[in-house]
Formats: sequence, C-alpha cells, structure tokens
Amino acid sequence: MSKDKILVTGGAGYIGSHACVALCEAGYQPVIFDNFSNSSPKVIDRVEQITKKGISLVEGDVLNFDQIMEVFRQHSIKGIMHFAGCKAVGESVQDPLSYYRINVTGSINVLDAMCHSGVDVLIFSSSATIFGDLNANPISESSTFSPKNPYGQTKRFVEEIMADLVASKANLNLATLRYFNPVGAHQTGLIGEDPKGIPQNLMPYLAQVAAGRLSKLEVFGHDYPTKDGTGIRDYIHVMDVADAHVAALEYLLSEGGYLAINIGTGQGISVLELIHAFERAAGRSIPWDFGPRRDGDVAEYYADPSLAEQKLGWRAKRGIDTICTDMWRWQINNPLGY
Ligand code: NAD
Ligand code: UD1
Repeated sequence: MSKDKILVTGGAGYIGSHACVALCEAGYQPVIFDNFSNSSPKVIDRVEQITKKGISLVEGDVLNFDQIMEVFRQHSIKGIMHFAGCKAVGESVQDPLSYYRINVTGSINVLDAMCHSGVDVLIFSSSATIFGDLNANPISESSTFSPKNPYGQTKRFVEEIMADLVASKANLNLATLRYFNPVGAHQTGLIGEDPKGIPQNLMPYLAQVAAGRLSKLEVFGHDYPTKDGTGIRDYIHVMDVADAHVAALEYLLSEGGYLAINIGTGQGISVLELIHAFERAAGRSIPWDFGPRRDGDVAEYYADPSLAEQKLGWRAKRGIDTICTDMWRWQINNPLGY
C-alpha cells in the first residue's frame, strides 16, 4: 500500500480533518498544516484515534510563504489538498480585505510554494457559491460564475488563477472541487463541525436545538416556489466530500490535467425535510417556527453530479438519514464541541 505524503492545509478544520481520515484509509500519510485560527489541536488526537496512525502536524500560516516551504523541506510531499481559508459569508461582507488576503493570497502562496518544490498535484476547496444566481437546476460545471459576496469572489479568483497557472505550466495537475452543502460527521462521532458562537448554517443550528443548547430553529421563509415553500439545498455527507478528494487525488496522480467538478448528491432537500429527518435520527421533536426569508438566499439549488461520476468514478453514498444520525452522534458526544 502506498505511503505517499499528502500536505493537507487546513487539515484540522471540519472538512480537512475528515479528508485526513479518508487519506489514511486509502493508504496515504496526511501532513496537516494549520494555524488553528478556526479549529482545535484536539482534532489531531481524534484523527489518530480513528485511524490508529500517527498524524504529522506543522503549525503554520498560509500567509507565511517560508513556513509552507519548510513543510516541503521537512517532508517528501506527493500532492496537496488545500482547505485552509475562511468561509463565513457575512464576515466576508464586513471584512473583505481579510478574506481576499487569506483566501486569495494564501492560495497563491500555496501554489507558488508547490511550484518551487516540484510538487505537481493540488486539489482546491471551492464552493457552489461561485455560481451565484442559481436558477437552472441541477447546477452543472458549465453554469455561469456569478458570486454574490466577497467569500464567493475569493473562490472564483483562485479558480481562475489555477486555470491560468495550468495554462502556463503544462506539468501541473490541479483540481477544483465545488462543494454544495457539506454536513454530518464521521460515523465514530469523534470529529465533526464545531462552529464558534451561534451557528450561521442550518445543520449545526438544528443539531444544537435538538440538543437543547439553542431553544428554537427559525425557518427562513415559507413562500419559496418549492415543494413545501422552504429553501432546498444539496446536503452532502462530509465523508462523501472527503472520499471525493481521494478520488480526485488518485485521478490527478494517474491521469493528470485540470479538473473543475461539482461535488453534491444531485438531491434537493427542503428545510422541513431536513428537520423531519433529524427528528427521526435524534428520536425527539425539534422546536421550530417560520420566520422571514434571509437576505440573499435563493429558493433552490442542487448539483448535477454526473461529471464527478464520469471522471472520478465517485458518487455520494450516504443519504440524509445517515447524515442526520452521524451528525447527532457527534452532537451528543461533544455537546460543547472539541
Ligand atoms: P474550517 O474553518 O473548519 O477549516 C479551515 C481550516 O483552515 C481551519 O482548521 C483553520 O484553522 C485553517 N486556517 C484558516 N486560515 C488559515 C491560515 N491563514 N493558515 C493556516 N490555516 C488556516 O472550514 P471547512 O468547513 O473545513 O472548510 C474547508 C474549506 O472548504 C474552506 O476553504 C472553505 O471555504 C471550503 N468550503 C467549505 C464549505 C462548508 O460548507 N464547510 C463549503 C464550500 C467550500
Ligand atoms: C451557506 C453559505 C454558502 C456555502 C454553503 C455551504 C451563507 C449565506 N451561504 O449557504 O456560501 O457555500 O452554506 O455550506 O452562509 N436556514 C434556515 N434557518 C437557519 C439557517 C438556515 O431556515 O437558521 C435555511 C436557509 O434559508 C437555506 C437552508 O436553510 O434555505 C440552508 O442554509 P445554510 O445552511 O446557511 O446554507 P446555504 O444557504 O446553502
């Protein structure tokens, strides 16, 4: 089995930590590079507990080029998964410069260090948010870019920088994966999403209401042109997202080239459907009320996952009940997060 080392920037974060588990399962050695600005060092122990493997950690900042280069000097790196960055849409509107600095400059540093080190494979965390106005469902890779906030712009810019870089250096093999709505947790309940403060997104909010940490869920809007009037999204299990990264890595290592791929299930789930699924998983009823629409929300969007299947042989395996069961296990085992 391969022992290739994979640099995982942001590997202590929500998706990165699950990707480290998937990498270990596939026989790779993750080397985590993280500054813990939005994560806990405890994640490393948890990943080691799950995988029964020692995980290498380099504490550092993607804004510091020398620190990234040091990882390449210390470790023989075969490929990179670049998760490090900031992801809160509202915060990006309040403080766009920080978002452009960390997400765009940070990514340029990682790409630059990669080129200086002779590593030629990288997978970037992008988001369905780059597509902005989402009217033509399912959303395929050929949908128009139209991000509606600075966070989405940072993802678009990095994708465009990557495409330019591949055009200028034929030996680079890069993939950008646009996640729809990653949710859930590892089935052991040892790692999961640990938002700071009050969660801004539906799934962690719902889990905290179910656990009694928050009193009631507000459902944003009841008059959308959808099956039950509430917003529809493509919720995808975080381990399915992690598996997609390993599939993309293996594709790039064997076939090479440039990939831009949407990572979703292809299934739209409404807010009310998610509440009911979570109630089944938790075995309790969840208090909720209708409230007004949230500014900037769209009614419905979900992925066209066919290119992912065609190119990577990957498709999401875990359904909404598994997502809610795993999320609930993480929530009750870690009521206050890490
Ligand atoms: P996260 O905040 O849990 O993880 C990001 C990790 O990066 C954290 O461990 C954080 O400490 C680290 N980090 C942040 N700034 C850093 C810096 N300057 N140097 C080094 N490390 C730094 O977020 P996540 O949900 O795991 O998201 C991972 C990536 O996926 C992000 O790029 C995010 O934009 C993207 N993404 C996430 C979602 C989602 O719903 N979670 C959806 C689409 C795309
Ligand atoms: C959010 C991000 C988006 C990111 C995506 C991936 C925002 C504005 N957008 O989008 O950039 O790519 O997550 O995870 O943060 N809802 C409620 N009550 C709540 C919270 C949400 O009813 O308390 C509804 C929303 O109106 C929406 C659905 O739940 O219909 C999902 O919301 P959320 O989890 O925030 O995800 P997105 O809006 O898709």
